[in-house]
Formats: sequence, C-alpha cells, structure tokens
Amino acid sequence: MNFDPQSVRHQFPALRRDAVFLDGPAGSQVPQSVIGAISGYYVNHNANHGGAFSTSRESDAVVDEARRACADLLGTTDDGCVSFGANMTTITFALSRAIATTWKPGDEVIVTRLDHDANVSPWVRAAQDRGVTARHVGIHPEDCTLDLDDFRQKLSSRTKLVAIGCASNAVGTRNPFPEMIRLAHAAGSLVFLDAVHYAPHLSMDVTAWDCDFLCCSAYKFFGPHVGILYGKRALMESLPAYKVRPCAETLPDRWMTGTQNFAAIAGVGAAIEYLAQIGHSLGKRTGRRQSLVRAFATIEQYEREAGGRMLTGLASLPRIRVRGIIDPKRLSERVPTVSFTHMRKSPFEVVEHLAKRNIFAWHGNYYALPLTEALGVEPDGMVRVGLLHYNTSSEIDRLIAALAELG
Ligand SMILES: Cc1ncc(COP(=O)(O)O)c(C=O)c1O
Repeated sequence: MNFDPQSVRHQFPALRRDAVFLDGPAGSQVPQSVIGAISGYYVNHNANHGGAFSTSRESDAVVDEARRACADLLGTTDDGCVSFGANMTTITFALSRAIATTWKPGDEVIVTRLDHDANVSPWVRAAQDRGVTARHVGIHPEDCTLDLDDFRQKLSSRTKLVAIGCASNAVGTRNPFPEMIRLAHAAGSLVFLDAVHYAPHLSMDVTAWDCDFLCCSAYKFFGPHVGILYGKRALMESLPAYKVRPCAETLPDRWMTGTQNFAAIAGVGAAIEYLAQIGHSLGKRTGRRQSLVRAFATIEQYEREAGGRMLTGLASLPRIRVRGIIDPKRLSERVPTVSFTHMRKSPFEVVEHLAKRNIFAWHGNYYALPLTEALGVEPDGMVRVGLLHYNTSSEIDRLIAALAELG
C-alpha cells in the first residue's frame, strides 16, 4: 500500500518550519504525541522508582508500558529482557565491560569497518583490558558492503563476540547480519547487533534473528534521547552487571544503573505507539506488534522509492560522487541514507550552501570513522543526506536543485 508522508507530517511540530530535515540519521523529529507523553509524565506522574505511593507506582507503570512497547518493536514476547539507558554508546560500554569478564587471553572479538565507532571502541577497549585480540572485518570500498570472505576468515573457535551494525549510519548499507549471526553461532560466538540506524527504517525481530544482544536509540525513531538494550534472558540473568549496592538481581532492573529519565521513557512508548498507529491506519486494527510490522513494510517501500529518486537526482550531478550502493536494482540492500563528496567543494562548504537554503544535512564522519578512514576521505569526511518516512519528493527535488547550483 502506498504511503503519503503528508498523512503524518502534521503530527510533527518541527516540520512546520520552512526547512528540509535531511539530518534524520543524526536524530529524527518527534510527533506531538511524544512531546505530550513527556510533559504529561511531569504533570501527572513525576516520582522516583519503586515507592509505595501513587505517583511512584504510576511512574513505574509508565516505564513498564514503554518496555512492553519496546518488546513489540524488537520482536520479543519477553519484555523483562528489555532495559533502558542513557544512549546506545553508554549501554554498549557497560555491556562490553560485563561480557569481557568472561574472556581470557587468546580469545578474540570481531568488529567491522562499516560500523559507527560506538560499536567498535567499546569492544576494542574491553578486549585491550583483557588481553584479547580484536579483529576488524574489511569492506568492499566500491559499494561499501562488508567483505564476508574476510569475516569468515577471521571467525574461529577463538571468537567470543561478533559486533555487527544492522545498517550503516554513513552510507546506508544493510548488512547481511542474519547470515553472519548463523555463522558466528556455529563458531560458538555471541553476537551483538547495533540496530541504531536500522530501527527507524525497518522492522526488527530479535527472536527470528536469534541475536544475543541488540541495542538501539529512540531519538533515531521519532522518540527522545533514550538507549534501549535487548539481551537473551539467560545471558542477562547470568552476566555480571556492574551495579551499585544494593544490587537489583532481577531483570530488567539488573541492567539499569542510576535513576532513569522516566519522562523520556514515557516518550519512547509514545514514539512506538506513533509507529503502530501508521500500521493501524493501513488495515484492520491488530495487536501492536503486527501493526508495527505492517507500518515498517509500508515505510520500507516508500523509503526505497524516495531513496531511488534521491540517488537518481544525485547521479545527474557530474561533480558529485556518491559512496555506497547506487545501482537502482540493489535498493533493497540499503536504507535511504546517502553520503557523497563534491569534486570542487569541501563537505563543510556543501552543507553550508544547503543550510543557507534551509536544507539541513550533515558533514564529516558522523563517528563512522572506521569507514571514512577505509575510504580515505578523512579529515573532511563526506556530506550525508538521510531520508525518513516524513520526507517528501519535493524536498528531494529541492535538495537536488540546491546542489545543482554548485555546478
Ligand atoms: C549506527 C549508530 N550506532 C550507534 C550510535 C550511537 O548512538 P547513541 O547516540 O545512542 O549513543 C549512532 C549514533 O549516531 C549510530 O548512528
């Protein structure tokens, strides 16, 4: 079924501005319902966790409901396996330190050169602390895909953890992680998925994928700044979480340190409800999980067409070189996040030119440093333009017209 971004744009107060938001990969805009849930929390339920009085009980209920919504988004029926934290980076540093206590010298971990550094440094640093070797899977620079032969070669019975990004936040590549998970498990390794860039674009299914851990961030999928961690129950119950005393030994509190941002967590639940509403509006009302799956099927189709339009427009500009998958027949292998360089202008000059026309785009390496180093585009990096389902065809045309002015 065709999706019309106009059917949702009115829900986003920020989109009233005369601007083209192509900075979604760095953070999406939020619908009014998310803003309402955050302020409603402060108006109605503001209290700390675990008290015997009504606001504390209501606050805990808000967090529990947001956790159930996350379970539906992630594709698990066990919401006890979902916990919240400040952001993906902070959660991953904490988790990697806990997992690393099970490693010994001679063990190995695998990371990739297509990942955001938040899915590289936490594992590399934990490996250094334990005398463990970190191996880096290379890329095919011509289309910015992972070198799977290199992955197979590096994987062995010594591998204890494989950290994979589901989709690249720089060039949009969708990685073949389900196959990589199967290979890693066959070698006896655990798998951590960074789904931060995947989550706004595609339906997640931790149960079908059988990943051991997955992390994502709500501010990329129309919510506030909160990180979300999923882990298989047996692992989350047994790994030694770093905690203050008295330690909560039961899930999900076991993995949550300090006082959470309860108001923002209320907003996470509302963001997932917003997405589910898209699914509800497309067919008969079903459970939240099915509505989310339906919403993402429609978003995926719309974004593929929009991404194709943007790539076609960029291909018409002779001085622009797009990195990553550009073949129109391979659009299913990518999300509509596109990075490019200009033959005559630096990435900063390009985004400044766009900014003067109220088109918001990013420049630099966006922490995808292993990739920009591998592509040899440091220190200036690239220009990144990212589409979300609320971006329209006329916005894409406005981008291409503004870039054409650069010659
Ligand atoms: C793919 C990817 N992984 C990880 C991160 C880090 O997420 P957070 O800002 O929640 O720490 C980002 C942020 O841009 C990202 O795009």
